[in-house]
Amino acid sequence: MAYGLLKGKRGIIFGALNEQSIAWKVAQRVVQEGATITLTNTPMALRLGELNALAEETGAKVIPADATSLEDLEKVFQESMEALGGKIDFVLHSIGMSPNVRKKREYDDLDYGFLEKTLDISAISFHKMMQVAKKMDAVAEGGSILALTYVAAQRTFCGYNDMADAKSLLESITRSFGHIYGRDKGVRVNTISQSPTVTTAGSGVDGMYNLRHFAEKLSPLGNANADECADYCVLMFSDLSKKVTMQNLFHDGGFSSMGMSVAAMEQYVKGELDNID
Ligand SMILES: NC(=O)c1ccc[n+]([C@@H]2O[C@H](COP(=O)([O-])OP(=O)(O)OC[C@H]3O[C@@H](n4cnc5c(N)ncnc54)[C@H](O)[C@@H]3O)[C@@H](O)[C@H]2O)c1
Repeated sequence: MAYGLLKGKRGIIFGALNEQSIAWKVAQRVVQEGATITLTNTPMALRLGELNALAEETGAKVIPADATSLEDLEKVFQESMEALGGKIDFVLHSIGMSPNVRKKREYDDLDYGFLEKTLDISAISFHKMMQVAKKMDAVAEGGSILALTYVAAQRTFCGYNDMADAKSLLESITRSFGHIYGRDKGVRVNTISQSPTVTTAGSGVDGMYNLRHFAEKLSPLGNANADECADYCVLMFSDLSKKVTMQNLFHDGGFSSMGMSVAAMEQYVKGELDNID
């Protein structure tokens, strides 16, 4: 159901790769709520060709950009303001990649060149995005900037590897930049900490199926899916969350506050996995 919560707002969505991407669902939902948007991803992601369908569906211009490049980011904000006809009201950072995870390097055998890439792509790009936007004065007063994160920033999850460090940095940047952006321009900055979700990035994490299953059993409301995450993003981009900033907001069915549930304990005792798909 649409409520017109983003009527007249202009947004930029980073990180829609394919139909499974959380950013894909967010793009669809924000447009349903009345926003106009641009879409951006790396030239390599665009070559896969799937984004064209989303662009057509949402009426969005696609702007190729590597989110670690300041020059590319300037282009994204400039071209988005031109295409949408004014300053930007909301931005979604839905970007994550770890070469160490991809190449199956264990956490006690990291390649440090890869680690730098993980941090640059998955966390520092968020700082770069905001620094560029603020210098260009590209985000309207009251604007809302969101990044997606995971509870491995606070607690240890085997298999999440150096992405945990990237997410900790991402959440720290959210607080540090959120302070300055709020003070100087009235722009709010938050992260949403999402349940494990089946996507291309999510599937790269070792033991993802088991992790999703465990989280489902532990969370009183069950795992949050990508569509539900998109709903929460709409709320955070809307004027209904005007005074929320510098927060890490858990969107995980209660997982992050749990210790043990009867369902998870029973499953553990039973010692076998059900199919939760
Ligand atoms: N899937 C999950 O379980 C889960 C849980 C919590 C948080 N998240 C976070 O959600 C976000 C979106 O991930 P997803 O699960 O939708 O997977 P996804 O693979 O669909 O999205 C990741 C995106 O990052 C983009 N990307 C990679 N390098 C880039 C670069 N240099 N510049 C610009 N874009 C780049 C990819 O092209 C891709 O579109 C990530 O930050 C991820 O860590 C995912």
